[in-house]
Amino acid sequence: MKKHQDNSPAGLPISVRWAAIIGLVIAAALAFAYAGGWLTPARLTPAKIVDSLAPAGGAIKGYRRNHAKGICFAGSFEANGEAVAISRAPLFKVGTYPVTGRFNLAGPIPTMSDGTGRVRGLSLRIQAPDGQEWRTAMINPPFFPVATPADFYALQRANANKQDPAPAKQFAASHPALRAFGAWASTAPYAESYAQDRFNSLNSFVFTNAQGHDQVARWSFIPTTAMVAVPPEDLKKRDPDFLFQDITERTAAAPQKWKLVLTLANPGDPSADPTQVWPDDRRQIDAGMLVVTRIVPEADGPCRDINFDPTVLPKGIRTSDDPFPAARSAAYALSYDRRTAESEHYPRIQSEGKP
Ligand code: HEM
Repeated sequence: MKKHQDNSPAGLPISVRWAAIIGLVIAAALAFAYAGGWLTPARLTPAKIVDSLAPAGGAIKGYRRNHAKGICFAGSFEANGEAVAISRAPLFKVGTYPVTGRFNLAGPIPTMSDGTGRVRGLSLRIQAPDGQEWRTAMINPPFFPVATPADFYALQRANANKQDPAPAKQFAASHPALRAFGAWASTAPYAESYAQDRFNSLNSFVFTNAQGHDQVARWSFIPTTAMVAVPPEDLKKRDPDFLFQDITERTAAAPQKWKLVLTLANPGDPSADPTQVWPDDRRQIDAGMLVVTRIVPEADGPCRDINFDPTVLPKGIRTSDDPFPAARSAAYALSYDRRTAESEHYPRIQSEGKP
């Protein structure tokens, strides 16, 4: 009788092929377990970071897990061509490019009072005609309170129990940047309008021009409206949505403008640490003007479904050795996944000017 022939392409016995298949399944399961952090409980995962942002009662469903309160806008970026010297990104060539953006307040609670928002944010998506995009989410402090994503998580944990201030005190004792941030937070004026706030990338990126030259840079959007500070004793008396009402009214009356300034690092300037401010004398390039023309309430507005992921960059800008953008990208994606799976809790339209 003829013996059974193994006709597999590899000519391997069936037991070996089964072992290979089972091995692959186990490897895939282990890869998922690793990605989920089950094999390495001490490893920092996006889920741990995002969970740590939640308020005591749990995350507010349907909303961003941080910077939950916001208002959307439409406008444009008017490039003057100056930044072409350091970047071949198409949206730096002289021209006008559409922008969708969002003014926001740091914190996980969408109903927070504007007067209590110490950290204010500006998120932008600038679109080039060829489909490339530059997404950036900036804040108004001049530097970040922590130097690494691991410290960001450690700080969240230290602040978790409001009844016990000891861990936060301990953290501050060993982290001078957090103490410096505390000094900024307790002394910097609260502008009466987003139109008067300066928004900073804080993270460093690498800009590459048409000749292939790399330049590390940070950027800021600088207001063209003079700062008027709200007296600290008035902050709590203001309407909980005063910033949102203000920007809605101002924009209805006239376009609101911020100048984009790129700050170029000198060799050796710290690019991996957003707690470190570069010296004042660094070369700057005035790259153009952000023009906000129309405010759109958050509910059902175009921002709801945008993830302002700071690693979505056009060719000519890329991430640097700064560890934050990658960590932020992973956390924003998870926050996005969670909130878009909770559509029944999405913000509802209340009234004009309200989030
Ligand atoms: C490891 C550090 C950080 C973590 C874990 C983190 C986490 C988050 C998360 C989860 C969101 C909500 C994203 C969404 O659902 O779309 C968010 C939004 C935001 N973050 Fe961060 N963040 C970090 C650092 C920063 C830094 C360094 C800045 C600015 C320099 C920043 C500015 C913003 C702004 C402006 C928003 C609002 C974005 C929007 O309008 O959708 N964050 N952050």
